[in-house]
This record gives sequence, C-alpha cells and structure tokens, in this order.
Amino acid sequence: MMRLDVLSIFPEYLAPLELSLIGRAQDKGLLGLTVHDLRDWTHDRHRTVDDTPYGGGAGMVMKPEPWGEALDAALGAADSSVTDPTSRPVLIVPSPAGEVFTQQTARELAAHEHLVFACGRYEGIDQRVVDWAAERMEVRPMSIGDYVLNGGEVAVLVMVEAIARLLPGVIGNPESLDEESHEDGLLEYPVYTKPAVWRGHEVPAVLLSGDHGRVARWRRDQRLRRTAQTRPDLLAALPQDSLDGRDREV
Ligand code: ADE
Repeated sequence: MMRLDVLSIFPEYLAPLELSLIGRAQDKGLLGLTVHDLRDWTHDRHRTVDDTPYGGGAGMVMKPEPWGEALDAALGAADSSVTDPTSRPVLIVPSPAGEVFTQQTARELAAHEHLVFACGRYEGIDQRVVDWAAERMEVRPMSIGDYVLNGGEVAVLVMVEAIARLLPGVIGNPESLDEESHEDGLLEYPVYTKPAVWRGHEVPAVLLSGDHGRVARWRRDQRLRRTAQTRPDLLAALPQDSLDGRDREV
C-alpha cells in the first residue's frame, strides 16, 4: 500500500482528498494518506512557524525547527541504507521554482512506496530543510505550472490526485487511462453521448456507423488535429516512429 504524508499549516485545505475516487481508494486500503499539522511540532505558546528573512526583504520565511521534527516523525524508522530506490521515501516540496510536474512525473512517483509532501507558505521554507533532507532521501521540488499560488496545498491536491489514480485498483476501468491526454503524447479525442442531435448540433456520423475501424481512425485523426492546433509543442516532441503514413496525411 502506498503511504502518503502531507505536512501543512492548513490541514483543512487537504480535506477534499477524503472525497471521490481518492477517498474511496483510502477506504479500500489502496493508499494510506495522513495530513499533519506542522504546528504540532512547535513548542512555543504561539505555535510559531515563521520568522523574518536573513538579509532582509519582504515577507516571512518558515523556520527550520518544526520542519525538522515533522520530517523526523514522517520518516519514522525509515532506513536510509535501503538501496531499492522505490522503497526509499521521496520528499516533494511544491514550489514555483521546482521542476514542472507532468504525467511522466506522476507515473514515476506512483511507483514509490512512501511520498512526503512539505507544503510551504509565506516566502518559502528555510533552504537548509531541503539541503538536510536531501542527504537522507530523494527530494523533488515540484511546480504544477508557471504561476504563483499562495502555498503548496493546492499543488499537493493536484499532484496526489494525478498520482493516486494511477495506482492499481483506484480507477475501476484501467483501460480508460490508455487514451487519455498526456499518456502517449497526443491529446484525447472529443466524446459524445445521447441524444444524437442536441440544440441543432449533431454527433459526427462516423460514431453512429458501427464501423469500429473507421471510428478508431476518426478518433486518432481528431487527436492529431487537436494536438497540432492547441499543443504543437507536444506534436514536435513525439518520437519519429510514433506517427504512421496515415497520421502524416491528417
Ligand atoms: N507554490 C506556489 N506556487 C506553486 C506552483 N506553481 N507549483 C507548486 N507549488 C507552488
């Protein structure tokens, strides 16, 4: 069972992870998710987690001490001598300065047994926390895109959902994962359901034809066209041999 620990000063932010597929996956014992309040590892009356930055400047920086104790607790008896990389815990630090999180990253992380997410707030976490952790575990500063959020919590919601749905048993129909956007480098095809005509808009006739070969070809054409139109960068990045002669005519 994959274990996930989330450290945050706003544990309520992670409440949606109790819902829907991810919540059900927890009930089924497919993953064990624990959200921890970073302030549980403070020792002063005000439960202080931040302080002014050395060198001056705007905003506040998260103090290293609560993070150190929180990570000690989350890692528990984790044995740093373990050599199998998937059984070593990974510390994911959401940050707009991190490496960009993609479907590929989600697949990599889904293969690990234990993920720890450290949600920073304010101007960020004292850099020594990351430097210290990197001596003990794999550390991956991760950005979910080129924009700035108020803290890491929403980024963790995004990453945990993307990772957890790849775990065996979480999605009822695993074939539905195969043709998704970002699985093979092409965007997904458009989908339709009844009625066949809605507000004057018809379902493409090929989908009503019952000809599975033509349907498959049409869907692939749609994927190629959509990708060329909205994400030419993805099309350019496809390996040469992934397009056949028919594909090139589209
Ligand atoms: N924290 C603030 N902005 C972020 C982003 N874009 N990705 C991940 N964590 C963040």
